[in-house]
Amino acid sequence: MSDNALSSCRAFVFDAYGTLFDVGSAVAKLRDSVGDEADRLSSLWRQKQLEYTWLRSLMGDFADFWTVTGDALDYALDQIGKKDPVLRAKLMETYLSLDTFPEVVETLKTLKSQGHKLAILSNGAKHMLISAAKSSGILSLFDQIICVDDLKTYKPHPDVYQLAVDKLEVEPAEISFQSSNGWDIAGAGHFGFRTAWINRAHSPAERLSHTADVVLNGLDELLPLVGEPQKA
Ligand code: LAC
Repeated sequence: MSDNALSSCRAFVFDAYGTLFDVGSAVAKLRDSVGDEADRLSSLWRQKQLEYTWLRSLMGDFADFWTVTGDALDYALDQIGKKDPVLRAKLMETYLSLDTFPEVVETLKTLKSQGHKLAILSNGAKHMLISAAKSSGILSLFDQIICVDDLKTYKPHPDVYQLAVDKLEVEPAEISFQSSNGWDIAGAGHFGFRTAWINRAHSPAERLSHTADVVLNGLDELLPLVGEPQKA
C-alpha cells in the first residue's frame, strides 16, 4: 500500500444508488414488459429522481426518496407514453431488491474483515436502503446506514455529509467517501471528505468546485489504496 489520499482514512462511507446498487437493474428486470423504450425509461427515471431531490431541497419542500422515486417514475412513464399501473407497481417493487454491482459484496467483506468502519450515506429512505441491503446480503457488513429521513434535505447539502461525521465520530478528512455520482463526489469533497469516484461508466468529470482524490473503475480498486485501520 502506497501513501495516497485515502491511506489514512478510518471509515469508508458509500453512496448507495448507482454505487453499490445498480439502478439500471430495476428496468432491466422488466425489460420485456417495458418494451423498446426500456433504456430511455431507465435513464429518464434516474435523471428525474435526482432532479426532484435537488429541487425539493431548494424549495424546502422535502418528500422522502420513495415518494420522489415514484413521482420520477410517473413522469418518465408519461414521457414514453406508457400508462400501466401494474407495471408501475412492479418497477417500484424492484427498487427494494436492486442488484449490486459484481465487485461490491467481496470488496465490502474484505474491508470489513480488515477492521474498517463501513457505512452507507444515501438520499434513500431508510426502509428502501435496509430492504436492498438485506436482499443482497450486505446489511450486516455496515456499522451504520445513514439516511436523510430526519434531516429532510438531500445530498449534496453539506448537512447530509455532516451526518456521517456525527454518527461515525471521525473527522471529515478521515472519511473516504465512495460514489459513482460525480455531483456527489463534488459535494463530499467540498464538505471535506476524501473522495473516490467510482467511474464505471467512464463519464467526463463534472465541472464543479471539487474533483475526486482518486478515480477508480470499480470498488475493488479501492483495496490497494486502503491503509491499516487505526484505533480511536
Ligand atoms: C444516493 C443516490 C441518490 O444517495 O445515489 O444513494
